[in-house]
Amino acid sequence: MLKMKHLLGLRDATATEIQEILDTALLMKVVITSNNKKTPHLQGRSIMTIFYENSTRTRLSFELACKYMSGTASNMSASTSSVAKGESLIDTARTIDVMGTDVMILRHPMSGAPHLMAKHVKSAVINAGDGTNEHPTQALLDMFTMREKLGDIKGLRVAIVGDVRHSRVARSNVFGLSKMGASVVVAGPPTLLPPEMDALGCDVTDRVDEAVKDADVVMGLRIQLERQKKGLFPSIREYHKFFGLTPERVALARKGALVMHPGPVNRGVEIASEVADSPESTIDEQVTNGVAIRMALLFMLTRHRPEAE
Ligand code: CP
Repeated sequence: MLKMKHLLGLRDATATEIQEILDTALLMKVVITSNNKKTPHLQGRSIMTIFYENSTRTRLSFELACKYMSGTASNMSASTSSVAKGESLIDTARTIDVMGTDVMILRHPMSGAPHLMAKHVKSAVINAGDGTNEHPTQALLDMFTMREKLGDIKGLRVAIVGDVRHSRVARSNVFGLSKMGASVVVAGPPTLLPPEMDALGCDVTDRVDEAVKDADVVMGLRIQLERQKKGLFPSIREYHKFFGLTPERVALARKGALVMHPGPVNRGVEIASEVADSPESTIDEQVTNGVAIRMALLFMLTRHRPEAE
């Protein structure tokens, strides 16, 4: 039984907890691939997606996951809420909490924002991406996809390539995959590799070809132009040539290796279109599996919550 009250990151999650979430998502995937996408798992429960940054996949998949399980899903977007009038994160969170919300799902540009929120509310809090810190539900759906396609995660060699420095997806995957027994190497231009990364339990290199060679999984990361100061790489064309997932580079991986990307994709920048659309690409399945993972989490985090007072 999942002991955690919130899902704030995978840094402190155990392998057993990750395994349990992936196993539950397997049952949920049966629902979303059927013609009867309705279960009673969230009947009487209410969730709120609270997004201070843009999103397509994460926000919509949480909302669909809730609706598929008969819960009530609402959204608060920072730009159209009283945040624009200067309301603080904590006051906003308390306001939503006392509306009877069971789960708050927060995306915020500040690392640690969900941890702060969790200290001030009775609801369960799920981190939907905080600054450059973590994006745990993305890493869970990535691990689910690897397990579905390749079997056991233990023993896999996973190369994570691109803008590692700004990537919360990379950090959550390094935490999760290491706990599940995979070996992880992160690779990219030296200016986009944070100095502390090797202390997190992965190999770090600026030689992308070496990282990709014989990998079981090659995961491209989006160039996060919105988080970058200028001048971290010379040009988009050179970035693609030297660090992008081109057909030639991906051919260095093990035969049948998966090509993954969390989306949204910058085609022709971190990944060539023909690679993104290749039979080895799991980009679409990752999105589908995101709904299954989020159904599992909403169910598991509300299962033992007391009724609203
Ligand atoms: N992968 C991901 O988090 O996508 P969105 O920004 O569309 O939610």
